[in-house]
Amino acid sequence: MNTIIVAPSLLSADFARLREEIEMVEDAGADLLHVDVMDGHFVPNITFGPMIVNAIRRIARVDLDVHLMISDPGKYFARFIEAGSTYVTFHVEAIDEIRSLLEQGSKLGAKVGIAINPGTGLEAADAALEMADLVVMMTVNPGFGGQSFIHDVIPKIRLLHERRQALGSRFLVEDDGGVNRDTAAIAAWAGADILVSGAAIFKSENPVSSFEAIKKAGLEGLARRDDPQAFPLA
Ligand code: DX5
Ligand code: ZN
Repeated sequence: MNTIIVAPSLLSADFARLREEIEMVEDAGADLLHVDVMDGHFVPNITFGPMIVNAIRRIARVDLDVHLMISDPGKYFARFIEAGSTYVTFHVEAIDEIRSLLEQGSKLGAKVGIAINPGTGLEAADAALEMADLVVMMTVNPGFGGQSFIHDVIPKIRLLHERRQALGSRFLVEDDGGVNRDTAAIAAWAGADILVSGAAIFKSENPVSSFEAIKKAGLEGLARRDDPQAFPLA
C-alpha cells in the first residue's frame, strides 16, 4: 500500500461522548476506527461486546477494525462480523486453529487477520500469512491504552514486511500500541501500513493536530521504507 492509514483507537475516547469523538476523528481524516474488545480473561481488562460494536457501526461513517483480545475467539467471531466489523482480528496466542477461523471469517464476508503479542515470534503466524488480510503487530502488551511503545518489536515488523515482499502477499501490516508522533515514523518505515493510536490522539489537548502529526510522521517513515539504513535497528 502506498499510503499510511492512521486508525484512532476508541479505547481512549470518552464513551459518554462517543458520537462526537468519532465525528471529530472522521472529520480529521480518519478512514478506519480501531475497536478494542477485551474479555477480562485473555487480557486483564474488560471493554465491550458485539452490541456496542454494532452501536459504533451505526454511528460511524468509516470502516471498523475490530481487535479481539479474547480467549476462544472462534466462539464469538461470527457475532462480531454480523455486528459490522470490516476487519476482525484475533490473537494467535488465543487459539490453535488459526487457518480455519480465518477461512470462516472470510466466508462470512469480513476481512480477517491475526494479532501477535510483543513476546510472540513470527513463526506463530507463518501458516496464516497467505490467508490473512491483516497482521497486527502489538507494540505494547495488550490490555490497556496509553502504554509505552516497545521498540524491540520493530525488527519483527521489518521481518514481516520483508517476508510479505518475498511471498508477494497482499496482507496489510498494522502496528498497535504506543504509536504517537515520535514512534509513527519508525513503525511505518519498518512496514506498518496502518498505525493504531489511542491515547496520543484522544488524550491530547488537540486530537486533530495529533492525528495529523502522526499521519505526517507515518508518511515520512513510509517514504524512507526502501532505505534499510534509514532507522538503524542496532
Ligand atoms: C491495547 C489495544 C490498543 C490500544 C492502543 O491493548 O489493543 O489498540 O488501544 O492505544 P494506545 O495508542 O494508547 O497505546
Ligand atoms: Zn488494539
